[in-house]
Amino acid sequence: MPPLPSPGDAAVTGRSEVRHPELAEEGRARMVWARAHMPVLEGLRRRLAPSSPLAGMRLGMVLHLEAKTAVLAETLKALGAQVTATGSNPLSTQDAVAAALAETGVDVAAWHGATPEEYRGCLERVLDARPRLVIDDGGDLVALLHGERSEQAGEILGGAEETTTGVTRLRALERAGRLRFPMIAVNDGRMKHLFDNRYGTGQSVWDGYMRTTNLTVAGKTVVVCGYGWCGKGVALRAAGLGARVIVTEVDPVAAAEAVMEGHRVLPLEQAAPLADVVVTVTGMAGVVTAPHIAAMRDGAVLMNAGHFDVEIDKPALAGASRSVTRVREGIDAYRLKDGRTLYLLAEGRLVNLAAGDGHPVEIMDLTFALQVRCMLRLVQGEPLPPGVHPVPAEVDEEVARAYLAAGGWEIDRLTEAQVRYRSEWEAGT
Ligand code: ADE
Repeated sequence: MPPLPSPGDAAVTGRSEVRHPELAEEGRARMVWARAHMPVLEGLRRRLAPSSPLAGMRLGMVLHLEAKTAVLAETLKALGAQVTATGSNPLSTQDAVAAALAETGVDVAAWHGATPEEYRGCLERVLDARPRLVIDDGGDLVALLHGERSEQAGEILGGAEETTTGVTRLRALERAGRLRFPMIAVNDGRMKHLFDNRYGTGQSVWDGYMRTTNLTVAGKTVVVCGYGWCGKGVALRAAGLGARVIVTEVDPVAAAEAVMEGHRVLPLEQAAPLADVVVTVTGMAGVVTAPHIAAMRDGAVLMNAGHFDVEIDKPALAGASRSVTRVREGIDAYRLKDGRTLYLLAEGRLVNLAAGDGHPVEIMDLTFALQVRCMLRLVQGEPLPPGVHPVPAEVDEEVARAYLAAGGWEIDRLTEAQVRYRSEWEAGT
């Protein structure tokens, strides 16, 4: 692979480029811990690795590069794939994990704090490996395959998208008639959004907040902007931790759901002055803007859990400030010209990944088992046409059954009489 445009002092290890190869042992330990709590993915590896179902497949992966992701990459490699991996956000890459993963034979090009140019170079690096399969998180790799690297789009057998933002971008491409290959919307799988988006984000956002601030959630007024699956989880767990939750929404159905769940619902302009903590989780740009900043309480905390760092208007925050200082790791104090101070966590990037380890391990076990199953579907099933495809229902069900089995949970089966009863309804008799 050619060198990156500006790799800084990244270390080249074999075909990989990582920042701190000396941290590999620490990264390995994190991977061992994660793997030990990913029984569904491990079950797939144990059963499938002997037959190498992905033998010879070049696979390009752009995912938040932390320990669970490394376990996924290792699993895909054990199934025969040649994997090239980079991170999907420069602040979520863990250098120790990148170093450890590079030692497993996966090609890695990623480091924490990569500049936008370096980040882009790492995406290019993934495409330089000429992948036939892609796993994307947020849609940047697929965007490149429809832009500057569109000459490679025809080589792609298919891929899978991890997150809501990425699926939104894919659907826009599809609507415009431009999507060149099949992409499975893993995000929309039942075993994904009901768990990862809701319970995963619900826990990891508050984990990121608590690690970073060492402050309580209990007794706080928390404003959750956006009540999609992620917002539902963030609000649910905030309430569970003892916060008073206010939800802001633009979708009346989602807002009605928040009301019925017991949350207060207000426009953000009315909610902002009440907030101790504001968390954005909308997938939209320009959510917390100058008027909200002007109305917020002294000492309020701002954080984002959406994919891109565009939900909190950082230029407006900086413009309203006379100084910005780092007061604790991951916390910037914006001293406003009127004397108030607002605290921004993780530079407005995904707080759960930039200031934490991402979702809990058992949650990513489910999501990444879906990813593996979807890769197998692309390789083994009837070829899929270009477009956005759902996770096959049997894949969701298989992952759910494996999760239940790993936890020792059993469920009922329909009796023969019930099967007959249902088929009579279905036959209209
Ligand atoms: N860990 C790896 N990928 C992740 C994601 N998309 N969200 C949260 N945690 C993750």
